[in-house]
Amino acid sequence: MTQVADDQPIFLVGPMGAGKSTVGRQLARTLNRDFLDTDQELERRTGVDIPYIFEIEGEAGFRARERKVLDELTRKPGIVLATGGGAVLDPANREALASRGYVIYLYASVAQQLARTRRSRNRPLLDTEDRQARLAALLAERDPLYRAVADQVLETGDQKVKTVVQQILDGLPA
Ligand code: S3P
Repeated sequence: MTQVADDQPIFLVGPMGAGKSTVGRQLARTLNRDFLDTDQELERRTGVDIPYIFEIEGEAGFRARERKVLDELTRKPGIVLATGGGAVLDPANREALASRGYVIYLYASVAQQLARTRRSRNRPLLDTEDRQARLAALLAERDPLYRAVADQVLETGDQKVKTVVQQILDGLPA
């Protein structure tokens, strides 16, 4: 069983297409915790989708909103929280994640990310001719940041969600 204290939140970080929301939801169900997602919460609060926020306010506007929501949600005890792929760019976000909860980095290769985001139309940063190059550049920049905040790094390949969740549980501190 998990040895992470019941009130200690669990945060999932990692790139687009790593499965943070899917794995997070399942992990929360398994641990009988509430699941939250910073992007979903942002969309709920603003009443518009992420691409619209990028269009009207630019990436800087989106990041400011993301910082505010992340600061709030990382204070909630006992939840599982999935974060957007770029949340770790902000030093204040990294500090909040690392100091307030148990952080799991869901790593996925560029090829896996590409496959899993193939049909995605709601990720403005993938609105580009060469998605592979974009994902590779983002991962090169962000991988060290994900690792810097992570308590556990998990490679997600072609395993089932159930398997990834079990691997997370197995990797929790004893
Ligand atoms: C982003 C990832 C997205 C979302 C936004 C920006 C990023 O979240 O926050 O489109 O900078 O990588 P997911 O990682 O859930 O796709």
